[in-house]
Amino acid sequence: MRFDQDFIEKVRESNNLIDIISRYTQLKGAGNRHTGLCPFPNHNEKTPSFSVSEGQQLYHCFGCKKSGNIFHFVQEMQGLSFVESVEYLAQKASIPMPVQEEQSPQLTKYKNSLNSSWKLIERSADYYFQNLQKLPESHPAKQYCRKRNLTDEVINEFKIGFAHDQWDGLLNFLNKIKAPQSVGQNLGLLKKRKSGDGLYDQYRNRLMFPIITQTEKYVGFGGRVLDDSLPKYINSAESSVFKKSQIFYGLNQSAKYIRTKGYAIVVEGYMDFLALYAKGVRNVVATLGTALTPQHAKLIGRYTSKLIILFDGDKAGQAAAQKSLKVLLEAQLLPRSVILPDNMDPDDFIAQKGADEFQRVIAASEDLFLIVMQDKLKNFKGAATEKVAVMEELAPLMRSVKHLGLKELYLRELSDRLQVTEDWLLKMINASGKNEKPSLQEPKNTDVTDKPVVKRKLLSLAKAPKHELYLINMALKSTEYFDKIIEQGVIEQISDQNLLEVFKRAEQVYRQSPEEFDKLTALLVTQIDQPTYLSAHLAEPLSTMDNAGSLRLIDDCVKKIRKQSLKAQTLQLLKELKQDSSKKEKLEQIMNIQKGKLNL
Ligand code: UTP
Ligand code: MN
Repeated sequence: MRFDQDFIEKVRESNNLIDIISRYTQLKGAGNRHTGLCPFPNHNEKTPSFSVSEGQQLYHCFGCKKSGNIFHFVQEMQGLSFVESVEYLAQKASIPMPVQEEQSPQLTKYKNSLNSSWKLIERSADYYFQNLQKLPESHPAKQYCRKRNLTDEVINEFKIGFAHDQWDGLLNFLNKIKAPQSVGQNLGLLKKRKSGDGLYDQYRNRLMFPIITQTEKYVGFGGRVLDDSLPKYINSAESSVFKKSQIFYGLNQSAKYIRTKGYAIVVEGYMDFLALYAKGVRNVVATLGTALTPQHAKLIGRYTSKLIILFDGDKAGQAAAQKSLKVLLEAQLLPRSVILPDNMDPDDFIAQKGADEFQRVIAASEDLFLIVMQDKLKNFKGAATEKVAVMEELAPLMRSVKHLGLKELYLRELSDRLQVTEDWLLKMINASGKNEKPSLQEPKNTDVTDKPVVKRKLLSLAKAPKHELYLINMALKSTEYFDKIIEQGVIEQISDQNLLEVFKRAEQVYRQSPEEFDKLTALLVTQIDQPTYLSAHLAEPLSTMDNAGSLRLIDDCVKKIRKQSLKAQTLQLLKELKQDSSKKEKLEQIMNIQKGKLNL
């Protein structure tokens, strides 16, 4: 998908960077200087060095040097591609997506059908949510929420709802809003009656958990009974919008915490997720009760490589954790884990022991590989046959360790425990691999929530000389300086072709609408590879340079550009002269004569 620049601008202008950033960090101040603690991971700061300009719609961190506009921010924080960041912000501002010119009718149809599915699920989620809101405190569903520690905050944030104990609640609602029944049926929300025709509600007398993707699309539901009857949960049927193997519950809200914390805790169920979230442990995601798949690994890998797998302490949970390990190692992620005592799941644990104890347990997590190895060595006494047996089990796992550093450390660990050489281990690992089935390939990408990233052609300024970058930054600092630089007529002499292009675009926009000068940098940084190249004027030393210093710097840059341009011209002329053969001969004759003279 390609967006034209007008659409991108419209999306950018319809969102305010201050609002978006305020979801991650508290900003103080006003106008062109809002400041706060840097929200980016790995920059745990105590004194604020993060600043946002409302006028220019740009952010900059003086500490970790991250900077950019609203798209950069959303990409970085939410782990989205550029295209996704545009979609996400367009959706936030209720701007409809443009239809692509070259789009085939089939694709248009498919996209429309996805859209109507998402919408129908979202409306249904609203309906269920309102149902729960309207119930009296004494209703069993309300009481169940209290019993499971689902606070109002969590209910609101995750739009938790209730399906009444009736056959046509949702059916009537969908009819009322004139939503197509066939879509509801395809999504498994409505079922066909066995006798005669007509439809009925799939979900009855259940607590409803809408499943929302990281780009805030509503793709399905989990519905839980209020007692011990079975099935405990009903998840949405697999469909073009609901693919269990690719979904993390809660990621829409927890992505920002995962980014700021720098790691993710992975649990198995809705309730585990919500229990941790309600107690303030927010860098969490939940699978829908399955082991992790390669698509899960890829998705979470956009946010962090550090994972803590916290599956149930029972046999099934541990088996799922072990199964996930191989997938995670293949994806070069760094999984750790802890086994919770007494078969507790994370929800039981935090309810009984509290958040502090939970954090202590997390801090004591170990590499999941070592936990699995430990498990295989449970009854190990040191016999040669045992060594071989253990290695036959561990060899496939070792082969999936794609991270070279990690592989070496695990080899060392194994050779210690088994009392064998690393050479012997490598032999075992390679030998058993010969007749192994090729490892699970990632299926072709059909995921609607994880579109292939279309690379835009960004202008790279990586090779631009320093003084040229200084000049454009001075131009972007104030209209006065920009005017001055244009007056000097030096822009055409810029040597870096990409920077020249950026400069020309800047000049064009500036000439057309000088009153938009404030937005110029934000506009340009979407078109280059690294925003910092053009936002240097927001940082020291340029930001604090006085007028005299600034003018001097401009002057120096202009001189240098002129000088280099003359030099380049001279070199070019010389080159042309050399290529011109007739002149070349004459030149050589002259040189020979000169040589002859010397030899006399
Ligand atoms: P759990 O049984 O561990 O769920 O199943 P939980 O979250 O701890 O549930 P509570 O605490 O009993 O309420 C983990 C996940 O497996 C899926 C659901 O996604 C659930 O969150 N599951 C479980 C089903 O799809 N169907 C079921 O019948 C049970
Ligand atoms: Mn549970």
